[in-house]
Amino acid sequence: MKKLTIAIDGPAGAGKSSVAKLVANKLHYLYIDTGAMYRAFTWEVLQRHVDIADPKSVQILADTIQIRLEIGREQCRVYVNQIDVTDAIRTSEVSSHVSAVAALAVVRQKLVQLQREMATSGGVILDGRDIGTVVLPDADVKIFLTASVHSRAMRRYLEVRERNERETLEHIEAAIASRDYMDSHRDISPLKQADDAILLDNSELNLEETAAALMKIIEARRQ
Ligand code: CDP
Ligand code: CDP
Repeated sequence: MKKLTIAIDGPAGAGKSSVAKLVANKLHYLYIDTGAMYRAFTWEVLQRHVDIADPKSVQILADTIQIRLEIGREQCRVYVNQIDVTDAIRTSEVSSHVSAVAALAVVRQKLVQLQREMATSGGVILDGRDIGTVVLPDADVKIFLTASVHSRAMRRYLEVRERNERETLEHIEAAIASRDYMDSHRDISPLKQADDAILLDNSELNLEETAAALMKIIEARRQ
């Protein structure tokens, strides 16, 4: 059966990565978390105290940084210059800086090239903000997955509580809304639905129902 290239875009907390993992497991495809790559770059910016308003410093970092995804069955581990940053890139500090870093042209050039290289073999699912519009405009299946800000914030809130961290729902909702705004209003590759993407709003669907809806769309393309 033909190995498809699947693009899932959408805002934070829509369920992109959870659903992509489920579907990748079912189809024996590779799941490529492009958001993790922007987070990894941001982690290194923070570690090195790079001033992102200084194009030269960002360029030097982009020329030298090594970001590697180790794609396993259950999890995708993320490395920056051989350091495992899988957990470190999920902090609220990284979350609050990532949109500004991801808006920089040099950063996007570097990471988009890496993402295209990883996707060349087909049999891949990539999730992010610009996969269907910029990274893989010829993807076989394009989904724009979204949900209301409130449902997305609630999902993240439950995750935070599970980790015994303290953050209020109001704070999470405001942080998500601000990231949505920055991601959708930047000049380069803003978050938007590709013209040929299928819109799936899962505000009222759980994870399994969302995965089932996605599988239905994919199966139709595999015929
Ligand atoms: O998991 P969550 O939805 O919180 O975000 P993510 O997918 O880890 O992405 C983190 C950030 O990286 C986003 O808010 C975007 O600013 C940026 N990003 C991007 O610009 N382009 C992508 N293809 C993926 C992520
Ligand atoms: O990757 P993205 O930021 O789009 O979302 P995610 O990290 O996959 O999902 C955020 C949280 O929402 C996870 O804990 C999912 O299990 C949960 N989720 C949910 O409860 N219902 C859905 N329909 C989709 C995701």
